[in-house]
Amino acid sequence: MAEHDSKLIHAFGALAELGQEVTNKNSFQETIRTSLHLISGALGIMRGAVARYSKFAHELNMLAIRGLGDDFPLSLVMCSEDERQFLTNGLNPIEISQAKVLPFFQVYDASFERRSLELFVPLVVRDEIVGALFLGEKATGEPYSSYEKEIVCAMGQHIGVAISQRNLMAELERRADENRAMFDEMRSTYNATVKAFAAAIDCKDKYTEGHSVRVGRFSEIIAAELAWGKDEIEGAAVAGYLHDVGKLTVERKIINAPYRINAKESAELNKHPMVGYEILQPIHHPYADVPLAAKCHHERVDGRGYPDGLLDREIPYIAKIVNLADSFDAMTTDRPYKARRPAKEVIEDLQRNSGKQFAPEIVTAFLGGMLRELNGEDRGKRFRRLLGRDYMEAEGITEKIKFTLNEMVPTTPMTYVAAASVGEASPIH
Ligand SMILES: [Fe+2]
Ligand SMILES: [Fe+2]
Repeated sequence: MAEHDSKLIHAFGALAELGQEVTNKNSFQETIRTSLHLISGALGIMRGAVARYSKFAHELNMLAIRGLGDDFPLSLVMCSEDERQFLTNGLNPIEISQAKVLPFFQVYDASFERRSLELFVPLVVRDEIVGALFLGEKATGEPYSSYEKEIVCAMGQHIGVAISQRNLMAELERRADENRAMFDEMRSTYNATVKAFAAAIDCKDKYTEGHSVRVGRFSEIIAAELAWGKDEIEGAAVAGYLHDVGKLTVERKIINAPYRINAKESAELNKHPMVGYEILQPIHHPYADVPLAAKCHHERVDGRGYPDGLLDREIPYIAKIVNLADSFDAMTTDRPYKARRPAKEVIEDLQRNSGKQFAPEIVTAFLGGMLRELNGEDRGKRFRRLLGRDYMEAEGITEKIKFTLNEMVPTTPMTYVAAASVGEASPIH
């Protein structure tokens, strides 16, 4: 009785360790190897194996083997009759010597007998075979007692759950990968469609070729300079690409007029923000309110813009970004009745119109980005690519931006106090 008790305590100890093993974050292979080791130790077995069942291949594939020799097959095939019988049997250990009626044991009889394998335990979890345990004879040569079989059954349950969890994880990962791939594909299709639209809009306006694409790029730069997240930056670019989509319905002769258009034509042209909103509104745009950007990109912070004459805080932020990008592109490209303006003049215009047409912090973010490129802090050449090298490197621009930024963002007053705890003066903002 005492010996029986100590064996039982030992076995329960192994079971507790096994429980911990299957719930910790070790690698799956490691968990299975340790599990086999624990079972062997608890029952005094020299040989055994744990296999995982592939229901697609109808195969038991070895995950861990102990003492069975290198020539033990790593994959064992099961037929549907075997599967049916094992499912009915559940987790109960099967005495291999008494189960020779099943095709599985007939096929592998010689292999099992040579290695003195005694017990086979199908690992059944939620009415599914997930694997199997193979256990050799005990070191003492005695047969397995019924309580030892119960222990094997309990341990088998733990291992079965570990395998089942792993299968579930693998399935989840596979689905997550599939979703990610699908999402990436949709995202690139969306972006390609947006760019195709931008090109279509620009096609209509022969004098401002590439305008929508450049406004998209400038909007992207501003969002990046404002330290927006990756998705939101992409959203800002899309808002820029599509801001003039409403021009698709405006007559070509008005858009292409090589003269200043009259009031009637101007009224027609000024409908394009609202038309753009109506075109874009039914489409779901993931990262920015693209329809509102189109509707409000001609609003001004002083309330003198159109179509609604909104005031600063009433204008969606994305529309303020697109507004600056749009105006900047208009000033820096040749128009039918107006040549592009020199960079210095454009910078002065941005400063003069800060707080009137533009939100000042968007102007400073934009000019700050330009300055970083000019003084070599940002090597992306974003502005040079869009404006041309000569334009960007015209004399005195760096100083002009520095001067403008200094005027627009005055130095914050600072007070220096002696900080006793750190032993030196610290600025307090
Ligand atoms: Fe516009
Ligand atoms: Fe525009």
